[in-house]
Amino acid sequence: MNSILLDTINGKSTSRPPVWFMRQAGRVLPNYRELKEKYSFVEMMETPDLAAKVTLMPVNDLDVDAAILFSDILVVPQALGMSLEFTNAGPVFGAPLQTFSDPVSHLKTDLSKLNHIYAAIDRIIETRPSDIPLIGFCGAPLTTFCFMFRDNVRDITFKNAIEFIYRDINATKKIIDAITEVSIEYAVNQVKHGINIFQLFETYGGLLPEDLYLELILPASKKILNAVRDKGVPTIFFPKDLGHGIVKVTKDVADFVGVDWQMPIDYAREIVDCEVGIQGNLDPRLLYSNQNNIMQTLEKYIEFGSENQKWIFNLGHGIMPDTPFENVKFVVDWIKSANWKR
Ligand code: CP3
Repeated sequence: MNSILLDTINGKSTSRPPVWFMRQAGRVLPNYRELKEKYSFVEMMETPDLAAKVTLMPVNDLDVDAAILFSDILVVPQALGMSLEFTNAGPVFGAPLQTFSDPVSHLKTDLSKLNHIYAAIDRIIETRPSDIPLIGFCGAPLTTFCFMFRDNVRDITFKNAIEFIYRDINATKKIIDAITEVSIEYAVNQVKHGINIFQLFETYGGLLPEDLYLELILPASKKILNAVRDKGVPTIFFPKDLGHGIVKVTKDVADFVGVDWQMPIDYAREIVDCEVGIQGNLDPRLLYSNQNNIMQTLEKYIEFGSENQKWIFNLGHGIMPDTPFENVKFVVDWIKSANWKR
């Protein structure tokens, strides 16, 4: 495949960094908003033709260098038997694990819940432009675990889940193992259906002290990422808010590491294993500003980009929901036309 993103991941030199955005499909595109008036998010996600159409929308409308599968990280808890509803306020489980005195016994794996996603991947592969790789993904174990315990859609501290970890480490390990096992099956099936790159989203990587994260969760994330890489697909790990802990994301864990907007990208490059590439890390909220301010911040990346070929331009977290579309397009155009002095 002739793709600037795959070239970068494979260590070839390119004239500019590749660009795509986390959450590029669902949040900012006028065409997505229009479709959302006719169909709910779940209808779009679960109907392969619609999921494929939305997956490819940012490629057409923003001209980004990759498509990311239109789905959600919470399909893994669904495949563990949990019922889920996407309300206007956010995702809500029918019976969060917090409800049960013995949550482990309430997990009942049903992998057929994921079949519609493989059908969507088939459809995307059939209809995408030939130079656009498809990024598959799933949630990393801690983030998935945290949502499974949440009983209040407004709780962003995930108090229940963290309390459970400290109260019952043995049951915690069993649940993490169950999430990991289904995630591996799911990720490997994504590979079989043709994804070109895989990203593991650990959005809430900062909820635990670093040593506990590294001991309890990182080995599970590594297992998922290695299962994908063993099938020949490169991996990106995005452990948001892990701070200095990203030094532990070595080449045996992932090919690239996503850097959040909190950490200066030069510092990330200094501390991360030199064999591991970097993805990131513009503050998504900068896109609320004016194009002059946005450009001044982008210019600061030129030096980094001229010296670092193993870098994928992205945000330091997902695009914010009400970001002006023109500003997102402005960033893509700027990245593509700047002189990267390579
Ligand atoms: O570009 C894309 O949007 C690709 C598909 C995608 C979705 N969710 C679709 C979605 C991806 C990659 C995700 C990942 C995801 N989902 C994460 C990790 C990344 C991150 O942004 O932190 C997390 C934590 C979730 C869980 C989740 N799903 C939440 C908290 C919510 C509600 C708030 C929100 O993000 O909008 C969702 C719902 C969701 N997932 C929507 C979409 C398009 C909105 C549903 C709607 O329109 O009602």
